[in-house]
Amino acid sequence: MRRIVITGASGAIGQALALHYASAGVSLVLQGRQRHLLQSVAQRCQAAGASTEIAAFDGSDVEQVRQWGESLGQTEPVDLLIVNAGQNIHVDPTTLREDTQASSALLAINLTSAIALVQSVLPAMQARTQTPRGQIALVSSLAAWRGLPATPSYSASKAGLKAYGESLRATLADSGIRVNVVLPGYVSSAMCDAMPGPKPFLWTPERAARAIAKGLAANRGRIAFPFWLSLGCQALACLPDGLASWVLRRLGYGVSP
Ligand SMILES: NC(=O)c1ccc[n+]([C@@H]2O[C@H](COP(=O)([O-])OP(=O)(O)OC[C@H]3O[C@@H](n4cnc5c(N)ncnc54)[C@H](OP(=O)(O)O)[C@@H]3O)[C@@H](O)[C@H]2O)c1
Repeated sequence: MRRIVITGASGAIGQALALHYASAGVSLVLQGRQRHLLQSVAQRCQAAGASTEIAAFDGSDVEQVRQWGESLGQTEPVDLLIVNAGQNIHVDPTTLREDTQASSALLAINLTSAIALVQSVLPAMQARTQTPRGQIALVSSLAAWRGLPATPSYSASKAGLKAYGESLRATLADSGIRVNVVLPGYVSSAMCDAMPGPKPFLWTPERAARAIAKGLAANRGRIAFPFWLSLGCQALACLPDGLASWVLRRLGYGVSP
């Protein structure tokens, strides 16, 4: 039985991933806050032949995340952990500020809890004798390449997660544990809809899930999509800062009071 844990499984990308992997011989652990949505995803996954467990709690509670992560490894080994739960906020265009509490909550779920979950699941993976011992996918964002004007906290959290994942992949390179960083562009979801600015090359969650699963199967260090947007974001990171900011404003990503 292959055991796959997905956080943010009540959201668009998480649901699509759960349904992509749902089949006989797969045991899915679905985490999020909204139990009724998790139950509905679980039912659809069961109909595809998977067995399911639900974990409904607020993932910004780092201590609860740590305890949950440790408990996951104690029952059945985790073959694939997809750290996908996340939030986005943006600056108030009048004050040009983000709400401090919302920013702290975002950093907790997007970064601190994500790292705590990995750290709490890792010992059980390392203790396994069979290889590969496990796989960890961290869902960052193309915004990790270059901070976007309207979303400083989100950009910071995703840049942090990208750096963490790249570092951990190198650390664990010879350990039999795979670590992959996922860098999506725009994918249709509640979070994406609420974000200001243009959304070029918008993908469906199903298409994103297929690309993620393909990249994970190939053990690619960075699973970035769509290609042209990914290339553009990497190019922005190489430009002088003033020029990158100018390009972003010209493309409609500026914030005006
Ligand atoms: N959509 C995009 O364009 C895009 C682009 C780049 C990266 N991403 C990343 O992809 C991931 C999934 O996003 P999505 O587009 O699928 O967004 P979504 O539909 O809004 O889903 C977000 C998921 O995160 C969960 N979540 C948020 N805060 C949580 C908390 N405090 N505790 C537990 N769960 C929490 C939500 O659970 P509940 O609803 O149950 O609270 C939901 O399952 C995120 O990490 C996001 O940053 C998305």
